[in-house]
Amino acid sequence: MTAGESHGEALVAFLSGVPAGLKIEQVFLDRELWRRQQGYGRGGRMKIERDTAHILSGVRHGITIGSPISILLENKDWTNWQESLPVEEGDAKKHKRVASPRPGHADLAGALKYNFPEARYVLERASARESAARVAIGGIAKLFLGELGIHVLSHVISVGAAAIDREVPWQQIAELHDRDEVLLNCADAEAEQRMKTEVDQALKNGDSVGGVFEVVAQCVPPGLGTYAQWDERLDARLAAALMSLQAVKAVEIGSGITAASAPGSAVHDEISYTKSVSFAGFTRSRNNAGGIEGGVSNGQEIRVRGYLKPISTLRRPLQSVDFATREPVKAAYERSDVCVVPAAGVAAEAMVALTLADCALQKFGGDSLGETLRNFKGYLEQLRNY
Ligand SMILES: Cc1cc2nc3c(=O)[nH]c(=O)nc-3n(C[C@H](O)[C@H](O)[C@H](O)COP(=O)(O)O)c2cc1C
Repeated sequence: MTAGESHGEALVAFLSGVPAGLKIEQVFLDRELWRRQQGYGRGGRMKIERDTAHILSGVRHGITIGSPISILLENKDWTNWQESLPVEEGDAKKHKRVASPRPGHADLAGALKYNFPEARYVLERASARESAARVAIGGIAKLFLGELGIHVLSHVISVGAAAIDREVPWQQIAELHDRDEVLLNCADAEAEQRMKTEVDQALKNGDSVGGVFEVVAQCVPPGLGTYAQWDERLDARLAAALMSLQAVKAVEIGSGITAASAPGSAVHDEISYTKSVSFAGFTRSRNNAGGIEGGVSNGQEIRVRGYLKPISTLRRPLQSVDFATREPVKAAYERSDVCVVPAAGVAAEAMVALTLADCALQKFGGDSLGETLRNFKGYLEQLRNY
């Protein structure tokens, strides 16, 4: 769970169910938060914020203690908003209205739903600033998965019409992750330059641009998720996790989109066996399934893609209507990003990590990390002996 307004004092994230004894590295959490703030095409807000995870509970002496974990992320921008968005009533003349809803944002639907006369409160919560809180707890999920040898990273497949047209191996995604400067988080330098040109074009035109990111989870054992109930299927859970991110409008598992128009023989991943390779010795010729069959992880890399629509706040705004007068006006403009594909990828890593950690805990259980690892190792042994 998360709480907090985009221009409020802070965001808060809450995670419960993490076994006791997991080492928490503050530096790792802060680097995850830094990664979410990167990418060519971000707006002025990201220059103000320097996110850091202030752990309030559930961690003592550097390890989890089995109690609920809560993390606070200060909004540095709050100093500029204390009078416009106070907790108490404040001075109405200083409040900042959002007078005309932006097509594509939550403004109109939210104002109608909550019966607000304008959209300030709507965008304060609908804004993707919220995703920073998910990245903080997602970092804890990643540390937990790391103990099981599972790692989750992302890279950018396309920005606007510019795309990388080859599969990117894990090693190259890991190299991207180690960089201290992020342009568009694409593994191919030439494609990344074409992506930058797309952003430049959008900047020049007062427009915005979307794109596609891919999240890859490596070393996931077979057996996470189940077909036993529809809402326990791993593909369904991952799709919901990614779709819950602001501006994600489609999710693809493996090569799900091209698979719809290809013959079965070109889609399904043929099975071989080499003793002592991977978890149980079964290997695949390719990974079009994205590591999931029947809602269950199959031991291959999990590959999920998120398709982002272009950001809806435009410097050259689209047509809208004034909330108060109902007269036609241009949609509101508030300082905004132009391209967020790399950042959305980082937030999606958090969502994938939280989902996989939950599935792993369902399967292996454990109140302490030692207990979880004992159960996990027992399962790996079962796979080896299969
Ligand atoms: C990392 C990230 C940053 C975003 N930044 C902005 C932004 O600066 N301006 C904007 O209008 N939308 C931004 N969005 C998208 C909106 O939050 C989103 O479109 C809006 O909440 C409506 O939700 P929906 O697009 O999921 O329907 C961002 C999305 C992500 C993932």
